[in-house]
Amino acid sequence: MHRPLGITVSRHILDSQRLHPEATGALSSLLAELIVAAKTISAEVNMAGLADILGMSGKTNIQGEDVQKLDEFANNTIKRRMARSGFLCVMTSEEEEDIIPAAEGYEGKYTLAFDPLDGSSNIDVNVNIGTIFSIHRRLTPSGQGSKEDLLQKGREQVAAGYIVYGSSTMLVYTTVEGVHGFTLDPSVGEFYLSHPDIRMPDRGKYYSTNEGNSCRWREPMRRYIDFLKEEDKESSRPRSARYIGSLVADFHRNLIAGGIFLYPGDRKSPEGKLRLLYEASPLAFIAEKAGGRAITDDGRSILDIEPTALHQRVPLIIGCRQDVDVAEEFFAGKR
Ligand code: AHG
Ligand code: MN
Ligand code: MN
Repeated sequence: MHRPLGITVSRHILDSQRLHPEATGALSSLLAELIVAAKTISAEVNMAGLADILGMSGKTNIQGEDVQKLDEFANNTIKRRMARSGFLCVMTSEEEEDIIPAAEGYEGKYTLAFDPLDGSSNIDVNVNIGTIFSIHRRLTPSGQGSKEDLLQKGREQVAAGYIVYGSSTMLVYTTVEGVHGFTLDPSVGEFYLSHPDIRMPDRGKYYSTNEGNSCRWREPMRRYIDFLKEEDKESSRPRSARYIGSLVADFHRNLIAGGIFLYPGDRKSPEGKLRLLYEASPLAFIAEKAGGRAITDDGRSILDIEPTALHQRVPLIIGCRQDVDVAEEFFAGKR
């Protein structure tokens, strides 16, 4: 079989590093290490349904090791690998209460915030899940990093991305050089460039929201969703509904095919459900780099929010530029 000579993700990262003569290569190496963690998680995700059949569903597996739930596995894989990467000073994970300092003697100049496995309700039912990451430059001068290093605006990110474990495994990331997508060839264990320079359409075909919450929605959200369901050929309405329940997968579809995702604040959860540091901020960074937009339901730009807590939640409206513009008008009471 002939395989095309694809551009590997490591090649691509090194090529973009070359555009920055001042770069030390630390960010490139950090990403490379994170990609190894992602491939490890991908392999485990692919085995998910087999664990029971292979007798690994008890507390210990055939090697006598403790069997971890997939989200714990993903968390530990990233945490352990990255703590000794030498490029980070501190991390924060959606699965951990407190900050995770880099191992002593391995401190570097970056910080990492991650959602190890996004879409946990989909793990056991063979539906797409993902990993999301966000990288900042540290603020403190040296040693193990602190919370202060992690509580930075999304606008200050130096890189962000996600891996979606779907019909194939894909990595999408951005530094300053645009948004690029890579598909994993599992037989070789390499990510190849499959979606160079991704641009979001100006307007999308889809809307994604959990309509099961509509009894708790506030008026603007109700009216906006009703509007999307009205017939009007010129503005491509009605829009089609698509909701997976894994933010990373819903976002990925909207990034490629065009759409808007909304998880607003409601009567039960005024700040919505999603987390600023691990979910909203990295995806907002990608959306903006791809020509899209991300705001809160009171019209603030996600990337300009000054975080005050690691696990802070934020109402999220993210997607194609024109769609978010229209949603913003509804939420501002202008329509
Ligand atoms: P996580 O699995 O990391 O906790 O995140 C789940 C999130 C997100 O992926 C998704 O968009 C949202 O929860 C779905 O929430 P609802 O079930 O309330 O729709
Ligand atoms: Mn999540
Ligand atoms: Mn998660």
